[in-house]
Amino acid sequence: MTLLNILEHVIDPVSTLKKATSFLKGDGVLIAHVPNALATNRRIARLMGTLVDEYELSPYDLQVVGHRRSYDRNLLQRQLEAAGLTTLTTGGIFYKMLSTPQMDWLLKKGPWEGGGFGWGRIGAEKKDWRQAFCEACYEYGRSVPDDCNVVYACGVRALGNEENLGTKYFAEFEGEMRKNIDRMGRDRELANLGLQFIHDSIAYKYSYNFSWLGSPIIQMPQDILALEEITWKTRPDLIVETGIAHGGGLIFYASMLELLGGNRNVLGVDIEIRPHARAMLKRHPLSKRIATIEGSSTDESVVKQVYDFAKGRNSVMVVLDSYHTQDHVSRELVLYSPLVTKGNYLVVLDTTIEDLPEGSFPNRPWGKGNNPKTAVHAFLRTNDRFEIDKGIQNKLVITTALDGYLKCVKD
Ligand SMILES: C[S@@+](CC[C@H](N)C(=O)[O-])C[C@H]1O[C@@H](n2cnc3c(N)ncnc32)[C@H](O)[C@@H]1O
Repeated sequence: MTLLNILEHVIDPVSTLKKATSFLKGDGVLIAHVPNALATNRRIARLMGTLVDEYELSPYDLQVVGHRRSYDRNLLQRQLEAAGLTTLTTGGIFYKMLSTPQMDWLLKKGPWEGGGFGWGRIGAEKKDWRQAFCEACYEYGRSVPDDCNVVYACGVRALGNEENLGTKYFAEFEGEMRKNIDRMGRDRELANLGLQFIHDSIAYKYSYNFSWLGSPIIQMPQDILALEEITWKTRPDLIVETGIAHGGGLIFYASMLELLGGNRNVLGVDIEIRPHARAMLKRHPLSKRIATIEGSSTDESVVKQVYDFAKGRNSVMVVLDSYHTQDHVSRELVLYSPLVTKGNYLVVLDTTIEDLPEGSFPNRPWGKGNNPKTAVHAFLRTNDRFEIDKGIQNKLVITTALDGYLKCVKD
Protein backbone atom coordinates (compact mmCIF):
# COMPACT_ATOMS: atom_id res chain seq x y z
CA MET A 1 0.00 0.00 0.00
CA THR A 2 1.55 3.31 -0.98
CA LEU A 3 0.66 6.85 0.15
CA LEU A 4 3.00 9.03 -1.88
CA ASN A 5 2.75 12.78 -1.17
CA ILE A 6 -0.73 12.37 0.33
CA LEU A 7 -0.42 12.89 4.07
CA GLU A 8 0.69 16.54 3.87
CA HIS A 9 -2.61 17.35 2.10
CA VAL A 10 -5.18 15.63 4.32
CA ILE A 11 -7.01 17.03 7.36
CA ASP A 12 -6.41 14.02 9.59
CA PRO A 13 -3.33 12.03 8.57
CA VAL A 14 -3.61 9.45 11.35
CA SER A 15 -7.18 8.55 10.30
CA THR A 16 -6.00 8.32 6.69
CA LEU A 17 -3.19 6.01 7.75
CA LYS A 18 -5.61 3.88 9.81
CA LYS A 19 -7.92 3.53 6.81
CA ALA A 20 -4.99 2.61 4.53
CA THR A 21 -3.75 0.07 7.11
CA SER A 22 -7.14 -1.62 7.04
CA PHE A 23 -6.44 -2.58 3.40
CA LEU A 24 -3.17 -4.35 4.28
CA LYS A 25 -3.23 -8.10 4.00
CA GLY A 26 -1.17 -10.36 6.30
CA ASP A 27 2.36 -9.02 6.46
CA GLY A 28 1.69 -6.40 3.72
CA VAL A 29 3.73 -3.22 3.97
CA LEU A 30 2.51 0.39 3.93
CA ILE A 31 4.91 2.93 2.39
CA ALA A 32 4.29 6.63 2.93
CA HIS A 33 6.39 9.49 1.63
CA VAL A 34 6.08 13.23 2.18
CA PRO A 35 8.10 16.41 1.42
CA ASN A 36 10.81 16.97 4.01
CA ALA A 37 10.76 20.29 5.90
CA LEU A 38 14.39 19.78 6.85
CA ALA A 39 15.66 19.38 3.27
CA THR A 40 18.90 21.28 2.74
CA ASN A 41 17.25 23.96 0.57
CA ARG A 42 14.84 24.79 3.43
CA ARG A 43 17.63 24.96 6.00
CA ILE A 44 19.48 27.34 3.67
CA ALA A 45 16.28 29.37 3.19
CA ARG A 46 15.95 29.78 6.96
CA LEU A 47 19.53 31.02 7.25
CA MET A 48 18.86 33.42 4.37
CA GLY A 49 15.76 34.67 6.18
CA THR A 50 13.35 33.69 3.41
CA LEU A 51 11.71 31.15 5.77
CA VAL A 52 11.05 31.99 9.40
CA ASP A 53 11.79 28.41 10.27
CA GLU A 54 12.09 25.18 8.27
CA TYR A 55 8.57 24.09 9.19
CA GLU A 56 6.90 27.30 8.04
CA LEU A 57 4.38 26.75 5.24
CA SER A 58 4.99 29.33 2.52
CA PRO A 59 2.09 30.96 0.61
CA TYR A 60 3.10 28.65 -2.27
CA ASP A 61 2.79 25.57 0.00
CA LEU A 62 -0.60 26.72 1.33
CA GLN A 63 -2.28 28.27 -1.68
CA VAL A 64 -0.75 26.60 -4.72
CA VAL A 65 0.02 23.04 -3.73
CA GLY A 66 -2.40 22.75 -0.80
CA HIS A 67 -0.12 21.56 1.99
CA ARG A 68 -1.64 21.47 5.48
CA ARG A 69 1.48 20.65 7.47
CA SER A 70 5.25 20.20 7.23
CA TYR A 71 6.89 16.89 7.90
CA ASP A 72 10.19 15.50 8.97
CA ARG A 73 11.16 11.87 9.34
CA ASN A 74 10.27 11.74 13.05
CA LEU A 75 6.79 13.18 12.61
CA LEU A 76 6.05 10.75 9.79
CA GLN A 77 7.18 7.80 11.91
CA ARG A 78 5.16 9.01 14.93
CA GLN A 79 2.00 9.25 12.80
CA LEU A 80 2.51 5.75 11.39
CA GLU A 81 2.84 4.43 14.92
CA ALA A 82 -0.19 6.42 16.13
CA ALA A 83 -2.15 4.66 13.38
CA GLY A 84 -1.16 1.27 14.81
CA LEU A 85 1.72 0.47 12.47
CA THR A 86 5.14 -0.81 13.44
CA THR A 87 7.87 1.02 11.51
CA LEU A 88 10.16 -1.25 9.53
CA THR A 89 12.37 1.42 8.09
CA THR A 90 12.59 5.14 7.32
CA GLY A 91 14.81 7.09 4.95
CA GLY A 92 15.19 9.97 2.53
CA ILE A 93 15.11 10.27 -1.25
CA PHE A 94 17.12 12.70 -3.38
CA TYR A 95 19.45 15.27 -1.88
CA LYS A 96 18.36 18.73 -3.00
CA MET A 97 20.11 21.98 -2.15
CA LEU A 98 17.71 24.16 -4.17
CA SER A 99 13.92 24.40 -4.04
CA THR A 100 11.94 22.31 -6.52
CA PRO A 101 11.24 25.15 -9.01
CA GLN A 102 14.89 26.19 -8.78
CA MET A 103 16.05 22.62 -9.41
CA ASP A 104 13.69 22.42 -12.40
CA TRP A 105 15.13 25.65 -13.75
CA LEU A 106 18.71 24.44 -13.23
CA LEU A 107 18.03 21.18 -15.00
CA LYS A 108 16.20 22.83 -17.91
CA LYS A 109 18.19 26.01 -18.40
CA GLY A 110 21.39 25.54 -16.41
CA PRO A 111 24.90 25.70 -17.90
CA TRP A 112 25.01 22.06 -19.00
CA GLU A 113 25.77 22.45 -22.70
CA GLY A 114 29.32 21.59 -23.66
CA GLY A 115 30.22 20.18 -20.25
CA GLY A 116 31.87 23.41 -19.12
CA PHE A 117 31.24 25.57 -16.03
CA GLY A 118 33.11 23.27 -13.70
CA TRP A 119 31.11 20.13 -14.43
CA GLY A 120 33.55 17.24 -14.67
CA ARG A 121 37.33 17.48 -14.42
CA ILE A 122 39.59 19.74 -16.39
CA GLY A 123 40.62 17.90 -19.54
CA ALA A 124 37.97 15.20 -19.01
CA GLU A 125 35.34 14.20 -21.53
CA LYS A 126 32.98 17.10 -22.34
CA LYS A 127 29.43 15.91 -21.88
CA ASP A 128 26.06 16.91 -20.53
CA TRP A 129 26.40 16.10 -16.81
CA ARG A 130 22.69 16.43 -15.97
CA GLN A 131 22.00 12.74 -15.55
CA ALA A 132 25.21 12.11 -13.60
CA PHE A 133 24.32 15.07 -11.36
CA CYS A 134 20.82 13.73 -10.62
CA GLU A 135 22.13 10.22 -10.00
CA ALA A 136 24.78 11.59 -7.65
CA CYS A 137 22.15 13.61 -5.73
CA TYR A 138 20.07 10.46 -5.42
CA GLU A 139 23.04 8.33 -4.27
CA TYR A 140 24.29 10.96 -1.84
CA GLY A 141 20.77 11.37 -0.42
CA ARG A 142 20.85 7.75 0.73
CA SER A 143 23.57 8.61 3.21
CA VAL A 144 21.93 11.86 4.46
CA PRO A 145 18.20 11.03 4.65
CA ASP A 146 17.27 14.07 6.74
CA ASP A 147 18.70 16.45 4.10
CA CYS A 148 16.61 14.93 1.31
CA ASN A 149 13.73 16.30 -0.72
CA VAL A 150 11.37 13.56 0.44
CA VAL A 151 11.30 11.37 3.54
CA TYR A 152 9.60 7.99 3.70
CA ALA A 153 8.55 5.42 6.27
CA CYS A 154 7.47 1.80 5.80
CA GLY A 155 5.33 0.00 8.31
CA VAL A 156 3.45 -3.23 8.95
CA ARG A 157 0.44 -3.80 11.18
CA ALA A 158 1.59 -3.53 14.77
CA LEU A 159 3.11 -6.62 16.30
CA GLY A 160 0.79 -8.98 17.97
CA ASN A 161 1.40 -12.25 16.29
CA GLU A 162 4.49 -14.27 15.50
CA GLU A 163 4.21 -13.70 11.75
CA ASN A 164 4.57 -9.94 12.09
CA LEU A 165 7.36 -10.34 14.61
CA GLY A 166 9.33 -12.33 12.01
CA THR A 167 8.52 -9.81 9.26
CA LYS A 168 9.65 -6.88 11.36
CA TYR A 169 12.82 -8.56 12.57
CA PHE A 170 13.94 -9.71 9.14
CA ALA A 171 13.01 -6.42 7.48
CA GLU A 172 15.08 -4.50 10.03
CA PHE A 173 17.92 -6.97 9.62
CA GLU A 174 17.77 -6.63 5.85
CA GLY A 175 17.48 -2.83 6.01
CA GLU A 176 20.63 -2.66 8.13
CA MET A 177 22.41 -5.10 5.79
CA ARG A 178 21.45 -3.06 2.72
CA LYS A 179 22.82 0.11 4.27
CA ASN A 180 26.11 -1.65 4.97
CA ILE A 181 26.21 -3.05 1.44
CA ASP A 182 25.59 0.43 0.00
CA ARG A 183 28.46 1.78 2.06
CA MET A 184 30.70 -1.10 0.99
CA GLY A 185 29.81 -0.41 -2.64
CA ARG A 186 31.33 3.07 -2.26
CA ASP A 187 34.51 1.82 -0.58
CA ARG A 188 37.09 1.75 -3.39
CA GLU A 189 39.84 0.59 -1.04
CA LEU A 190 37.86 -2.50 -0.03
CA ALA A 191 37.02 -3.23 -3.68
CA ASN A 192 40.72 -3.07 -4.53
CA LEU A 193 41.51 -5.47 -1.68
CA GLY A 194 38.94 -7.86 -3.18
CA LEU A 195 40.63 -7.62 -6.58
CA GLN A 196 44.03 -8.03 -4.97
CA PHE A 197 42.83 -11.24 -3.33
CA ILE A 198 41.47 -12.60 -6.61
CA HIS A 199 44.73 -11.73 -8.36
CA ASP A 200 47.10 -13.13 -5.73
CA SER A 201 45.12 -16.34 -5.27
CA ILE A 202 45.26 -17.20 -8.99
CA ALA A 203 48.81 -18.52 -8.44
CA TYR A 204 47.32 -21.19 -6.12
CA LYS A 205 44.29 -21.90 -8.33
CA TYR A 206 42.22 -20.91 -5.27
CA SER A 207 38.89 -21.20 -7.10
CA TYR A 208 39.63 -24.93 -7.66
CA ASN A 209 39.76 -25.64 -3.92
CA PHE A 210 36.08 -26.35 -3.34
CA SER A 211 33.49 -29.01 -3.96
CA TRP A 212 29.71 -29.20 -3.73
CA LEU A 213 28.26 -32.41 -2.29
CA GLY A 214 31.51 -34.16 -3.16
CA SER A 215 32.04 -32.83 -6.72
CA PRO A 216 34.73 -30.25 -7.58
CA ILE A 217 33.25 -26.86 -8.44
CA ILE A 218 35.44 -24.15 -9.99
CA GLN A 219 34.02 -21.02 -8.36
CA MET A 220 34.82 -18.56 -5.61
CA PRO A 221 32.81 -19.48 -2.48
CA GLN A 222 31.30 -15.99 -2.52
CA ASP A 223 29.89 -16.51 -6.01
CA ILE A 224 28.47 -19.89 -4.99
CA LEU A 225 26.61 -18.15 -2.18
CA ALA A 226 25.31 -15.45 -4.55
CA LEU A 227 24.08 -18.16 -6.94
CA GLU A 228 22.38 -19.91 -4.02
CA GLU A 229 20.58 -16.68 -3.02
CA ILE A 230 19.52 -15.99 -6.62
CA THR A 231 18.25 -19.52 -7.18
CA TRP A 232 16.30 -19.62 -3.92
CA LYS A 233 14.71 -16.24 -4.57
CA THR A 234 13.88 -16.61 -8.27
CA ARG A 235 12.88 -20.33 -8.16
CA PRO A 236 13.83 -21.19 -11.75
CA ASP A 237 12.38 -24.31 -13.34
CA LEU A 238 15.35 -24.49 -15.69
CA ILE A 239 18.97 -23.46 -15.22
CA VAL A 240 21.29 -23.62 -18.23
CA GLU A 241 25.02 -23.64 -17.50
CA THR A 242 27.58 -23.37 -20.29
CA GLY A 243 30.94 -24.80 -19.17
CA ILE A 244 30.61 -27.93 -17.02
CA ALA A 245 34.28 -28.82 -16.25
CA HIS A 246 34.22 -31.40 -13.38
CA GLY A 247 30.47 -31.08 -12.92
CA GLY A 248 30.36 -29.47 -9.44
CA GLY A 249 28.34 -26.53 -10.79
CA LEU A 250 25.69 -28.87 -12.17
CA ILE A 251 25.49 -30.71 -8.84
CA PHE A 252 25.15 -27.38 -7.03
CA TYR A 253 22.25 -26.21 -9.23
CA ALA A 254 20.63 -29.65 -9.08
CA SER A 255 20.75 -29.59 -5.27
CA MET A 256 19.04 -26.18 -5.19
CA LEU A 257 16.36 -27.36 -7.64
CA GLU A 258 15.83 -30.51 -5.58
CA LEU A 259 15.17 -28.36 -2.49
CA LEU A 260 12.75 -26.19 -4.46
CA GLY A 261 10.96 -29.35 -5.58
CA GLY A 262 8.61 -29.88 -8.53
CA ASN A 263 9.64 -30.29 -12.13
CA ARG A 264 12.95 -28.44 -12.28
CA ASN A 265 16.12 -29.27 -14.19
CA VAL A 266 19.60 -28.07 -14.91
CA LEU A 267 21.07 -28.41 -18.39
CA GLY A 268 24.85 -28.30 -18.83
CA VAL A 269 26.69 -27.64 -22.10
CA ASP A 270 30.40 -28.31 -22.59
CA ILE A 271 32.59 -28.67 -25.64
CA GLU A 272 34.09 -31.75 -23.99
CA ILE A 273 32.40 -33.65 -21.20
CA ARG A 274 35.28 -35.64 -19.81
CA PRO A 275 34.68 -39.30 -18.86
CA HIS A 276 35.23 -38.74 -15.11
CA ALA A 277 32.65 -35.92 -15.08
CA ARG A 278 30.18 -37.94 -17.14
CA ALA A 279 30.55 -40.95 -14.83
CA MET A 280 30.14 -38.81 -11.67
CA LEU A 281 27.04 -37.05 -13.04
CA LYS A 282 25.52 -40.41 -13.96
CA ARG A 283 25.92 -42.03 -10.56
CA HIS A 284 25.12 -38.97 -8.44
CA PRO A 285 21.88 -39.15 -6.40
CA LEU A 286 20.77 -35.89 -8.05
CA SER A 287 21.34 -37.18 -11.59
CA LYS A 288 17.59 -37.18 -12.30
CA ARG A 289 17.64 -33.37 -12.30
CA ILE A 290 20.63 -33.10 -14.68
CA ALA A 291 20.87 -33.20 -18.48
CA THR A 292 23.95 -32.50 -20.58
CA ILE A 293 24.81 -31.64 -24.17
CA GLU A 294 28.30 -32.10 -25.57
CA GLY A 295 29.38 -29.50 -28.11
CA SER A 296 30.35 -25.87 -28.37
CA SER A 297 27.82 -23.59 -26.67
CA THR A 298 27.67 -21.43 -29.80
CA ASP A 299 27.18 -24.33 -32.21
CA GLU A 300 23.85 -24.06 -34.01
CA SER A 301 22.77 -27.65 -33.34
CA VAL A 302 23.67 -27.34 -29.64
CA VAL A 303 21.65 -24.14 -29.31
CA LYS A 304 18.69 -25.83 -30.99
CA GLN A 305 18.85 -28.70 -28.48
CA VAL A 306 18.95 -26.19 -25.61
CA TYR A 307 15.87 -24.38 -26.95
CA ASP A 308 14.05 -27.70 -27.42
CA PHE A 309 14.85 -28.59 -23.80
CA ALA A 310 13.64 -25.17 -22.61
CA LYS A 311 10.25 -25.42 -24.34
CA GLY A 312 7.36 -24.95 -21.91
CA ARG A 313 9.55 -23.63 -19.06
CA ASN A 314 8.27 -20.51 -17.31
CA SER A 315 11.22 -19.43 -15.24
CA VAL A 316 14.67 -19.76 -16.79
CA MET A 317 18.10 -18.74 -15.51
CA VAL A 318 21.33 -18.94 -17.55
CA VAL A 319 24.93 -19.07 -16.32
CA LEU A 320 27.71 -18.50 -18.87
CA ASP A 321 31.01 -20.02 -17.77
CA SER A 322 32.66 -21.56 -20.81
CA TYR A 323 35.23 -19.89 -23.08
CA HIS A 324 36.09 -16.41 -21.79
CA THR A 325 36.95 -14.42 -24.94
CA GLN A 326 34.79 -11.42 -25.83
CA ASP A 327 33.75 -12.93 -29.17
CA HIS A 328 32.60 -16.19 -27.64
CA VAL A 329 30.71 -14.63 -24.72
CA SER A 330 29.15 -11.99 -27.00
CA ARG A 331 27.82 -14.79 -29.16
CA GLU A 332 26.57 -16.69 -26.10
CA LEU A 333 24.82 -13.55 -24.84
CA VAL A 334 22.95 -13.16 -28.12
CA LEU A 335 22.05 -16.86 -28.29
CA TYR A 336 21.15 -17.55 -24.65
CA SER A 337 19.78 -14.25 -23.29
CA PRO A 338 16.35 -14.68 -24.95
CA LEU A 339 15.86 -17.83 -22.84
CA VAL A 340 16.03 -15.88 -19.58
CA THR A 341 12.62 -14.90 -18.22
CA LYS A 342 11.71 -11.62 -16.52
CA GLY A 343 12.85 -11.54 -12.89
CA ASN A 344 15.48 -14.22 -13.46
CA TYR A 345 19.22 -13.82 -13.88
CA LEU A 346 21.73 -14.13 -16.68
CA VAL A 347 25.01 -14.69 -14.85
CA VAL A 348 28.25 -14.10 -16.73
CA LEU A 349 31.22 -15.42 -14.79
CA ASP A 350 34.88 -14.36 -15.05
CA THR A 351 34.04 -10.78 -16.01
CA THR A 352 36.57 -9.70 -13.36
CA ILE A 353 39.38 -10.60 -15.80
CA GLU A 354 38.91 -7.01 -17.06
CA ASP A 355 39.79 -5.57 -13.64
CA LEU A 356 42.98 -7.55 -13.09
CA PRO A 357 46.41 -6.33 -14.22
CA GLU A 358 47.55 -6.90 -17.80
CA GLY A 359 49.19 -10.31 -18.19
CA SER A 360 47.29 -12.02 -15.33
CA PHE A 361 46.40 -14.91 -17.68
CA PRO A 362 49.57 -15.36 -19.78
CA ASN A 363 48.56 -18.71 -21.31
CA ARG A 364 44.99 -17.79 -22.17
CA PRO A 365 43.50 -16.08 -25.20
CA TRP A 366 41.53 -13.75 -22.90
CA GLY A 367 42.78 -10.83 -20.81
CA LYS A 368 42.24 -7.09 -20.32
CA GLY A 369 40.14 -5.70 -23.19
CA ASN A 370 38.99 -9.14 -24.36
CA ASN A 371 36.90 -11.00 -21.81
CA PRO A 372 33.34 -11.62 -20.55
CA LYS A 373 33.05 -8.10 -19.08
CA THR A 374 33.85 -6.37 -22.36
CA ALA A 375 31.23 -8.66 -23.92
CA VAL A 376 28.65 -7.73 -21.24
CA HIS A 377 29.22 -4.01 -21.66
CA ALA A 378 28.91 -4.24 -25.46
CA PHE A 379 25.75 -6.37 -25.05
CA LEU A 380 24.09 -3.92 -22.66
CA ARG A 381 24.61 -1.04 -25.07
CA THR A 382 22.02 -2.57 -27.39
CA ASN A 383 19.89 -4.71 -25.05
CA ASP A 384 17.50 -3.14 -22.53
CA ARG A 385 16.10 -6.38 -21.09
CA PHE A 386 18.96 -6.70 -18.58
CA GLU A 387 20.43 -4.55 -15.84
CA ILE A 388 23.59 -5.14 -13.83
CA ASP A 389 22.61 -5.99 -10.25
CA LYS A 390 25.35 -4.02 -8.50
CA GLY A 391 23.92 -4.95 -5.09
CA ILE A 392 25.25 -8.49 -5.55
CA GLN A 393 28.83 -7.53 -6.35
CA ASN A 394 28.78 -4.84 -3.65
CA LYS A 395 27.93 -7.43 -1.05
CA LEU A 396 30.40 -10.05 -2.31
CA VAL A 397 33.46 -7.80 -2.76
CA ILE A 398 35.39 -10.93 -3.70
CA THR A 399 33.79 -12.11 -6.95
CA THR A 400 34.82 -13.27 -10.39
CA ALA A 401 31.63 -11.71 -11.78
CA LEU A 402 31.95 -7.91 -11.47
CA ASP A 403 29.13 -6.51 -13.65
CA GLY A 404 28.25 -10.14 -14.45
CA TYR A 405 25.05 -10.55 -12.39
CA LEU A 406 22.47 -9.39 -14.92
CA LYS A 407 18.84 -9.20 -13.89
CA CYS A 408 16.21 -9.61 -16.58
CA VAL A 409 13.83 -6.66 -16.16
CA LYS A 410 11.63 -7.00 -19.26
CA ASP A 411 9.71 -9.74 -21.02
C1 LIG B 1 35.66 -22.54 -16.00
S1 LIG B 1 35.22 -24.10 -16.57
C2 LIG B 1 33.59 -24.28 -15.99
C3 LIG B 1 33.46 -24.46 -14.51
C4 LIG B 1 32.10 -24.92 -14.05
N1 LIG B 1 31.06 -24.03 -14.51
C5 LIG B 1 32.01 -25.05 -12.56
O1 LIG B 1 31.17 -24.35 -11.92
O2 LIG B 1 32.75 -25.85 -11.97
C6 LIG B 1 35.10 -23.87 -18.29
C7 LIG B 1 34.57 -25.03 -19.11
O3 LIG B 1 34.15 -24.51 -20.37
C8 LIG B 1 34.35 -25.49 -21.36
N2 LIG B 1 34.37 -24.84 -22.68
C9 LIG B 1 35.41 -24.26 -23.31
N3 LIG B 1 35.02 -23.83 -24.53
C10 LIG B 1 33.71 -24.12 -24.66
C11 LIG B 1 32.75 -23.94 -25.68
N4 LIG B 1 33.07 -23.34 -26.82
N5 LIG B 1 31.50 -24.36 -25.45
C12 LIG B 1 31.16 -24.97 -24.29
N6 LIG B 1 32.04 -25.20 -23.31
C13 LIG B 1 33.30 -24.79 -23.47
C14 LIG B 1 35.65 -26.15 -20.94
O4 LIG B 1 35.72 -27.45 -21.51
C15 LIG B 1 35.55 -26.13 -19.43
O5 LIG B 1 35.07 -27.36 -18.96
